Amino acid sequence: MSEIDSKQRDEKVFELYEQLLEIEQRLIPTGLHLFGRPSSAGEQIDLFKMIASFDRPEHGIRALPQELVEDAVREFLEHGSDAATRLLEGQGLKPESTRPVFALLESVSAKLQTNTEIDALIRAIRGEFIEPGPGADIIQNPDVLPTGRNTHAINPYSVPSAVAFARGEVVATSLLERYRNEHGRFPEAMALVLWGLDNIKTQGEGVAQALWLLGVQPVRDALNRSTSVAAIPLAELGRPRIDVVMTVSGIFRDLFSPTVQLLDKAVRLVAQLDEPLEQNYVRKHVHEQIAQERCELDDAAVRVFSNAPGNYGTNVNFMVMDSSWEREETLGDLFVTRKCFAYGRDSRGRAIDGREARVAMDRALSRVEATYQNIDTFEIGLTDVDHYFEYLGGVSKAVEKRARARPAIYLSDSLSREVKIRTLEESVRLETRTKTLNPKWYEGMLKHGFRGVAEIENHVSNTFGWSATADAVDDWIYAEVANTFLFDETMLERLRELNPHSAHALVQRLLEANGRGYWDADSTALEKLRDISRSLEDQLEGVA
Ligand code: BEZ
Ligand code: MG
Repeated sequence: MSEIDSKQRDEKVFELYEQLLEIEQRLIPTGLHLFGRPSSAGEQIDLFKMIASFDRPEHGIRALPQELVEDAVREFLEHGSDAATRLLEGQGLKPESTRPVFALLESVSAKLQTNTEIDALIRAIRGEFIEPGPGADIIQNPDVLPTGRNTHAINPYSVPSAVAFARGEVVATSLLERYRNEHGRFPEAMALVLWGLDNIKTQGEGVAQALWLLGVQPVRDALNRSTSVAAIPLAELGRPRIDVVMTVSGIFRDLFSPTVQLLDKAVRLVAQLDEPLEQNYVRKHVHEQIAQERCELDDAAVRVFSNAPGNYGTNVNFMVMDSSWEREETLGDLFVTRKCFAYGRDSRGRAIDGREARVAMDRALSRVEATYQNIDTFEIGLTDVDHYFEYLGGVSKAVEKRARARPAIYLSDSLSREVKIRTLEESVRLETRTKTLNPKWYEGMLKHGFRGVAEIENHVSNTFGWSATADAVDDWIYAEVANTFLFDETMLERLRELNPHSAHALVQRLLEANGRGYWDADSTALEKLRDISRSLEDQLEGVA
């Protein structure tokens, strides 16, 4: 082997090692929550490790060092706080600095073992008082426990928080760097998906990312409310201002009305800055449009879109699940039909409250070169629900037709200490390896019997949603789903016993993936799938 070959080999091995490590370090849900039941102690070690891995300045808590956290949490679970504190003291960590971490873990542990959900439900039905509690991810904010409380949201005027704004900068910078590494320049325009619950959980990280891409910062008024924005000078920003199209969920529109105004204000401010066009893509695009279409600033600066007032969702998920489309572009068109309602204020200060603006949205999307969404929780990822592909997939498909090119599609998660930007394809692979094809995950699901099989089928259908909207699923993923769940006779028997309906739906989805050109399966595999499908149909019809 030549010198170069062995160097390349080492790099390849290192890359593989990093990918394995990434998979290993993901927190993998190993079952569903049962309403009214406390969570079992079995999987708490992973959860506690994650909780102990975050700095929590608001509670005077420093994260435990990565290399010690596993041993310390094990000691804590087996012998308690004092023993764990001593163990770390032996490693040179002062008890004053580690005790607060274990106090937090003790409180989380106690709260996980109580469950008043059923009581609370009964009180709610009687119209009685339910104690309020914050809505968040358990790792980001352990104060969400105990469950069974009345989840309260957030003061929209407090968004984005200082922490969220600081994290937003890191994410925006990494996102633009990743695009630049792959394309040799910055994207002139991006489309972002903003959800309500996510921005509650992260205190507005998604909002902060949008502001950073535009190059502005929130300005608080005398009542400490974020009601205005100021431009960050170009010299400080060190890069152009990116044009941002924001597609916000109906929930976001309802919960974050002042934030919708803030985002719209930010775009209008940036469009009117006296700056070179190659350093300010918002201004560049608005100028071009005004010149070409002889329109007003108010027509050219619309960037915040949501559903019509009182409406929610894109329906792209329903269309995909029902197999009721012929060409993929229909999915993108449906996204625009549902989401082309503009929100904000015009230049005379009059409210634009969900005015239909299809032409403006088509125009804004026609410039987009990259799309992006932030994932905010360990509990729900790309293939757990159909909402990620209906939104991020839907907007990406809409861009593909209007910009006449598929955008680069990125995700990141606010889950780890370091920010990691992934392409959609990378994210789908990671999600598939850690969940759908991971025995730890699917055996956890299968413990739930009928519902567990339905979850497996859901994950495969949601994965299929990423083929339909973004062509982002490798062939091997479908092949391995077939191998794992259908071509393994013991597994097929289990699925058939537990839930033949979902097993049948799973086979049909794989056949559809092949039929639509998303999976280049060999003829033997297809023949086997058709046989399995027929035999499941016989079973369902009571023939077999
Ligand atoms: C939201 O929080 O905005 C949201 C939740 C579920 C699906 C779509 C959006
Ligand atoms: Mg393909």
